[in-house]
Amino acid sequence: MRDPDALLEVRGLKKAFGGVVALRGIDLTLERRQIIGLVGDNGAGKSTLIKIISGVYPPDEGEIQYEGKPIRFSSPMEARGVGIETVYQHLALIPQMSILRNFFLGKEMLRRIGPFGFMDFNDMRGICKEALEGLGIRVRCLDEDVSFLSGGERQAVAIARALHFGAKLLILDEPTAALSVRETETVLNYIIEARNRGLAVIFITHSLHQVYPVADRLVILEHGRKIGDFKRDEVALEDLTGIIRGTQTKDSS
Ligand SMILES: Nc1ncnc2c1ncn2[C@@H]1O[C@H](COP(=O)(O)OP(=O)(O)O)[C@@H](O)[C@H]1O
Ligand SMILES: [Mg+2]
Repeated sequence: MRDPDALLEVRGLKKAFGGVVALRGIDLTLERRQIIGLVGDNGAGKSTLIKIISGVYPPDEGEIQYEGKPIRFSSPMEARGVGIETVYQHLALIPQMSILRNFFLGKEMLRRIGPFGFMDFNDMRGICKEALEGLGIRVRCLDEDVSFLSGGERQAVAIARALHFGAKLLILDEPTAALSVRETETVLNYIIEARNRGLAVIFITHSLHQVYPVADRLVILEHGRKIGDFKRDEVALEDLTGIIRGTQTKDSS
């Protein structure tokens, strides 16, 4: 693989579920400090692609290089361990737990006293507050259950958590699908902030209009194939809309 700036390179990725070929021949290069908008109709293969990258499924064929080394994850935990964090629309946080507990889920800070480890809530509180405020997120109380937060606030906490724990690649699968226009704008600003801090971001959405202004690159999937891969500066929104509309006309004919 060639690109020295690449954080992630996938080559020739294929994945089928029974008789359904969800992805075929997918090549993708993702650089650090880059936002990729991954767009395409329902069933195009977007979620399958990022699930392979984040260790949920193994590919049937193809290879993945991350930080210049070939990788083959056997679980999402392994992908998280090397800095690949995925935020799903619904599963971003556990609603019945506090903001604080969610922030540190699986990464609680222990203070050792003799043979026992105690969670150090004071330190955790300070760190969580700082991480949220660093992104401009204001929450009323860290002990409040996440179920009281709006959809946008939940995404914000999940993004702040990923940033704090050193993610290098942040993947968001339709994070704004259930959000109001204003909340969507706020989440998009967090994504730009993540990029400005050096992360690579894959942002999946149905809405080309939403992702076009913030993306550095736009990748279009259709029926499991990549049918477009453009630098944002080199392609007009209308041209992309045309490509996507073309596939939809083909579908309905
Ligand atoms: N776990 C699965 N089992 C069987 N088929 C699946 C599974 N996941 C996805 N598919 C199929 O693969 C195709 C791509 O799905 P998906 O990646 O979810 O698309 P998208 O996220 O773009 O809507 C669809 O035809 C879908 O039905
Ligand atoms: Mg999907």
